[in-house]
Amino acid sequence: MDRILITGALGQLGTEFIKHFNRENIFVLATDIKLPNSKPLCEFEQADSLDKKRIDELVKKYDINIIYHLVAILSASGEKDPFKSWKLNMNSFQNIVEISLSNNIKKVFWPSSMAVFGTESKLDLVIQNPVMNPSTMYGITKLTGEKLIEYYFNKFGLDIRSLRYPGIISVETVPGGGTTDYIIDMINAAKKGFSYSCFLNENTELPMMYIDDAINAAIKLMSTKRSNLSILSSYNITGFSITPKKLLIEIKSNGFNLKVDYKPDFRQKIADSWPKKIDDSFAKKDWDWNPEFGLKQTIKKALK
Ligand code: SER
Repeated sequence: MDRILITGALGQLGTEFIKHFNRENIFVLATDIKLPNSKPLCEFEQADSLDKKRIDELVKKYDINIIYHLVAILSASGEKDPFKSWKLNMNSFQNIVEISLSNNIKKVFWPSSMAVFGTESKLDLVIQNPVMNPSTMYGITKLTGEKLIEYYFNKFGLDIRSLRYPGIISVETVPGGGTTDYIIDMINAAKKGFSYSCFLNENTELPMMYIDDAINAAIKLMSTKRSNLSILSSYNITGFSITPKKLLIEIKSNGFNLKVDYKPDFRQKIADSWPKKIDDSFAKKDWDWNPEFGLKQTIKKALK
């Protein structure tokens, strides 16, 4: 029987994973450095994922056999304090690896990101294994983690699975400190009747995905037979690609009268080093990945 630990469980992905496992009646222990605002749908323990001893004790106490390690400082926040970003993203990852090895954890899920790519990755359509020259500390930690996933599999047979997420669009729990956050900010401004000042220029094209697809992709990857996985590190996946300009047209076509001006800041440079489109054919071939939500459906759902 699966007994799952989720770290960083109160974030954008964690909240939705908890709902998913709750529907499936699967035991979950959620941990986060913060306390939840309302009663969670599963067991909850406040814990800092840099505290290895505490996480190890919780794994033992709750008899955990699968870990979803979601803790991370995202791209834009990471640039404000790159040392903190490295420390949190990498030390917590290493803790989870050591804890997994000493507690016989069956499988680990660890999200990577399109931030592993860079200006030399042929950004018009990024393939699975291009040249990778990440420009942010976040991207560097994700690429390092990907390399470590391969290393620990070859060295110890540790089964860590990973997806290179594009921007994820959710309504209930929003991300914080990312470069793709503009899309959610703009949708929320439309809903509230505010105007919006966009930190990317109107023609910046980036890949995105609806939250339900992001969760389903991870569940699908985690339940695939290991021998079917040809990628040891992390799989490219995508939903659709969009620019702020196209998003505004879509928002207006749903009946919202939003005013937007464009004031690109330091995040423009980050976005310019990320893919416009992503080739996810390995995920399609190896574990039958197929996103359910396209651009129009996603924006419509997010505007509800
Ligand atoms: N959404 C993330 C960010 O913008 C990318 O993985 O930082």
